[in-house]
Amino acid sequence: MTAASIADYRDLARQRLPRFLFEYVDGGSYAETTLARNTADLRDIALRQRVLRDVSSIDLSTELFGQELAMPVALAPIGLAGLNARRGECQAVRAAEAAGVPFTLSTVSACSLGEVAKAATQPFWFQLYMIRDRGFMRELLAQASEAGCSALVFTVDMPVPGSRYRDYRTGLAGAPGWRGAVRRAWQGAMRPSWAWDVGLMGRPHSLGNVAPVLQGRTGIEDFFAWMRGNFDPAVSWTDLDFIRAEWNGPLILKGILDADDAREAARLGADGIVVSNHGGRQLDGVPSTARALPPIADAVGDQLTILADGGVRSGLDVVRMLALGAKGVLLGRAWAWALAAKGETGVAHMLGLIEAEMRVAMALTGVTRIDQIDENILVRGDL
Ligand code: GLV
Repeated sequence: MTAASIADYRDLARQRLPRFLFEYVDGGSYAETTLARNTADLRDIALRQRVLRDVSSIDLSTELFGQELAMPVALAPIGLAGLNARRGECQAVRAAEAAGVPFTLSTVSACSLGEVAKAATQPFWFQLYMIRDRGFMRELLAQASEAGCSALVFTVDMPVPGSRYRDYRTGLAGAPGWRGAVRRAWQGAMRPSWAWDVGLMGRPHSLGNVAPVLQGRTGIEDFFAWMRGNFDPAVSWTDLDFIRAEWNGPLILKGILDADDAREAARLGADGIVVSNHGGRQLDGVPSTARALPPIADAVGDQLTILADGGVRSGLDVVRMLALGAKGVLLGRAWAWALAAKGETGVAHMLGLIEAEMRVAMALTGVTRIDQIDENILVRGDL
């Protein structure tokens, strides 16, 4: 099947991936209310069609954190996504570069910072969690600087992990032991092309950046146990001082959903925030990004750079997020699905779809430059 949309890439990913990997990326936490709200609320925002405005020349280029981008989009950090295709993050970073947008490497990626830096020819972004072991954080930040990363995305909405029921159902989460491993091996065997491409040819499977602290243990359960034990629930605003002392580049706080928190981020000098509910994977029941974004943009839009993610399934959705006040949009599941379906080619094609869809959305709302996108392209009273 030729994918014509991100929804098609989701279908292809479902056919290609072992169940535990597909459900890990696809799912949300608890009853998945916020996951559903993210897509529904965004799609419900009515665009204001305008006509006869000469849209023959549309320019999507923009600047974020001093970087020229071909369009106001970046690939979001996604843990384990590199397992969706052989050396997956290396494929994704190349596709992002070709499209002129940043790739963000997760702390918990399959490929290490060093490996991705070798695959890349331009700076990429690095994502970090607050980890109890500050020495390890220091080490990661030093590696990110050495790799030439051009921004740090610091995830602030995960002092404790939300529970994702799907992961228990697939055997990815739950009591460690042979049962989960057997179920995952069976699910892998049901997907022979993935088993060949990633399971056999994609070795090693140690989780790149975290491998040193796992001390030779390579099982997914070992990794989750490490995560549970090492994410720091004591993380607070004062920890930004620690990050600032170790990191010289732009600092972006990911996981802000409240205007008061956004003000605090601005007061403490963050360069950017990502308005995000972690793709509906953390506190189920919180508002969608589409709802949370406008008051945050009103509060701090003139003080720092606002990015947003959550529920973006087309270039039309990117344009909606920009109209709600974001300066850039992170694509998460979209690239993980495209990578699973067709590797680097898939991610490149998915980004091409986003670009083409943005052009249409802009043309038919009567704008030709990114800085012309604001609430005036939305039907009033629809927010
Ligand atoms: C990690 O950040 C996840 O959402 O699984």
